[in-house]
Amino acid sequence: MNQQITTPHGVIDIRPAQETDYQTYRELRLEALRNHPEAFGADYAANAEQPMTFWTERLRSLGSNNMIYFAVHNEALVGMGGIYRGNSQKTQHSATIVSVYVQPEWRGLKIAEGLVFRCIEWGRTQRAAIVKLTVSATNTTAIRVYSRCGFAVYGIEPQTICLDGIMYDGLLMSRHIV
Ligand SMILES: CC(C)(COP(=O)(O)OP(=O)(O)OC[C@H]1O[C@@H](n2cnc3c(N)ncnc32)[C@H](O)[C@@H]1OP(=O)(O)O)[C@@H](O)C(=O)NCCC(=O)NCCS
Repeated sequence: MNQQITTPHGVIDIRPAQETDYQTYRELRLEALRNHPEAFGADYAANAEQPMTFWTERLRSLGSNNMIYFAVHNEALVGMGGIYRGNSQKTQHSATIVSVYVQPEWRGLKIAEGLVFRCIEWGRTQRAAIVKLTVSATNTTAIRVYSRCGFAVYGIEPQTICLDGIMYDGLLMSRHIV
């Protein structure tokens, strides 16, 4: 089911990814990795080299263990957020939000909040009890978004990302969803 956010720049649909999104998904993800290398563990160059099957497979594998949501305006992808849950009997209660990104011209409109809440909703339908995420400790904008969405800090992972010799600690955040 799609959800809508009405913004001063137009209506945004929050909808699950579809297999046919592979090209625009690739573009949006590479844009995020290229412009915000300190915010994501994945590497731009390594992802840019991937064949198109890498992206189609990612979308094809979505289902009861992982999901991606897109923020869409007039059929253009303007934001995204992903979630996956543990794959064993003992870890499937725990889901993790990843890859949250909103294009610069669409920021400040609470689109990330919409994506995060949609991911949490997915976690509930998959009977997850807790949702976790890691955010760079210097990423104050994202930390504020996650705090507004009910996440609280439970720890710090030292040196999660090393970029050009600079170490970024990861702030570990969680929210109980039952
Ligand atoms: C972090 C991010 C996803 C937030 O998305 P968003 O949809 O803009 O989130 P919000 O609308 O809730 O706004 C976040 C903050 O930016 C402020 N803001 C307002 N206008 C803005 C603008 N034009 N550009 C940037 N930020 C703006 C908002 O007021 C808000 O601050 P507040 O919490 O003090 O109110 C987005 O900035 C982004 O994609 N950043 C780069 C990638 C990244 O860091 N991802 C997170 C990885 S963990």
